[in-house]
Amino acid sequence: LQALAARTRPEFLIGAAVALGPLASDLDYAREFVGNFGALTPENAMKPQFLSPRQGVYTFEEADALLDVAESKQLAVHGHTIAFSEAMPSWMQELPSGSEAEREESAEALIDYVTTVVTHFRGRLASLDVVNEPFDVDQGTGLQQNIWYRVFGPDYPAVVSRAVHEADPDVAQFINENGADVPGPRQDALLELALETNARGGHIEGVGLQGHVYDLGTDAIPVEALTETLTRFDDAGLRVRISENDVTDEEGTRVQAEQYAAVLSTCFRSPACVSYTTWGVDNRYNWWVDDDGELQQGHDFVFEDGKPTPALEAMRRA
Ligand code: XIL
Repeated sequence: LQALAARTRPEFLIGAAVALGPLASDLDYAREFVGNFGALTPENAMKPQFLSPRQGVYTFEEADALLDVAESKQLAVHGHTIAFSEAMPSWMQELPSGSEAEREESAEALIDYVTTVVTHFRGRLASLDVVNEPFDVDQGTGLQQNIWYRVFGPDYPAVVSRAVHEADPDVAQFINENGADVPGPRQDALLELALETNARGGHIEGVGLQGHVYDLGTDAIPVEALTETLTRFDDAGLRVRISENDVTDEEGTRVQAEQYAAVLSTCFRSPACVSYTTWGVDNRYNWWVDDDGELQQGHDFVFEDGKPTPALEAMRRA
């Protein structure tokens, strides 16, 4: 895929989310991965809960090992993620924010986290989600009132962005969100947040549109709506990454393949869209687990049991 894309857009990156385990230990999987992708996003390894289990304590081993693999295979790395409500260690979630003095102390701890992590990875990340899923769940348009919000107020994305820039001025910064793939209030809010962050001294290059399609019947991403979306962000001077696209197969593998291909090709044909990432590669290592934590095997990715699916073929043609 990456080689096909590079013929027309040498800078365009096609990536996938991955964990260290399968990439380092399953040779067939590694071959599938490297044979098709030019970039990776650590699926979990760079989330705060994994990087800093206790305040002031950092566990970089897994993320570093993943970076070593990426570099040995010449894959660009997209960092994921700094401020993310869902993936914080408890020390971070529980930082006090009741009084002015508490907020000051907690601010120092949070900035220290940003600086330590971004300095550690400096020079090795092409891009980074500085804020992930800022808005209230279920299509909300207000900022989640997480610890970043409680300590820094509604300008926290600008605070984080400036701290990231100080530690690594070259990493391309993104705000990543789900449910903002097509025009609507949630997308308006994301566009506004990115612009406002920059108006307050932030360094946001663009937005990540996650592109999870959980139900093709209700939340398929139509080409026209995505085209309009990309034009909107382009007009606002922002870049777009399709950052976590995956598509359920409940409507059949042909419809699923068409959706994968449509999202990739619409992105690829828009100069504002700089990369496309799929969230998972092979059903054997997918992130879909049911309520009992059992792996769901029916959810198709671009490979199934090591073999390319119709989705991958359609993406190659697209
Ligand atoms: C998911 C991972 O894929 C899972 O392995 C983990 O258990 C939970 O998080 N949006 C995001 C990603 O931004 O960080 C999430 O990743 C998927 C949804």
